[in-house]
Amino acid sequence: MVIMASRSTAFRFLTSVVLLFFLAGCGAPLSEHWSGYRLGQGAEPSTAADSPAAAKPPAPAAPDCRKVKCVALTFDDGPGTYTEALLKLLDEHNAKATFFLIGKNVEKHPGIARDEVAAGHEIGNHTYSHQDLTELSLAAGQRELRKTEEAIKKATGAAPTLVRPPYGVIPKGLKKSLDVPVALWSVDTLDWKTRDTKKTTKAAEKIVPGSIVLMHDIHKSTLEAMPKILADLGAQGYHFVTVSQLVGNPKPGIAYGTGRHPGGKG
Ligand code: NI
Repeated sequence: MVIMASRSTAFRFLTSVVLLFFLAGCGAPLSEHWSGYRLGQGAEPSTAADSPAAAKPPAPAAPDCRKVKCVALTFDDGPGTYTEALLKLLDEHNAKATFFLIGKNVEKHPGIARDEVAAGHEIGNHTYSHQDLTELSLAAGQRELRKTEEAIKKATGAAPTLVRPPYGVIPKGLKKSLDVPVALWSVDTLDWKTRDTKKTTKAAEKIVPGSIVLMHDIHKSTLEAMPKILADLGAQGYHFVTVSQLVGNPKPGIAYGTGRHPGGKG
């Protein structure tokens, strides 16, 4: 009898825990396009815990971006030819960044993706073949994201913690179906368009505390702009954090950043 009673108590406890988790999940807004994100104290992205690098001693706590100047530098479309050199630069400046990877390129350069995770950077999903998701069916869009997630997991042992749709556009239905947040940007350096080191450096002057900055590690001009951008922002007292560290605890179903381009598609 005693055993029966304690079993049923345990069962009731478990049921309430499950119910609580369920309710917490339902409470999160699912379709809001939230550009006015708040800043937070970054929890490490969950990739860190699942990755092979987790065996290393824990990284120092992320800065509290409500109290100090933070910027989230983000690099799309890799891994590519210039990524390893960029990783070295970031490391020299004690900078964490976020890489939005294309599945096809992860399959070409699995070792680079692994190095990004090992260095403590955050990894986002940028689809498998960089198509405009608004021109695909829901199923095709989900396939683009799933194939990329699988490639990233296979290469790094960790799952991507964010999605950034190509061109910053994603159908509402697909966004709702995601189990990770959408990360857009608040400053577009237009590096993809100008392919010009000086113009990219100049565009980075628009960065303010809390900016999510769009760049691409597949262009030589971007790599060549980075030493000055990192040095200038560092001299202004910026901390270089991942997107999840910047906003604290990003929620699935929400898009962070406006994702606007100062002119044109990109
Ligand atoms: Ni892209």
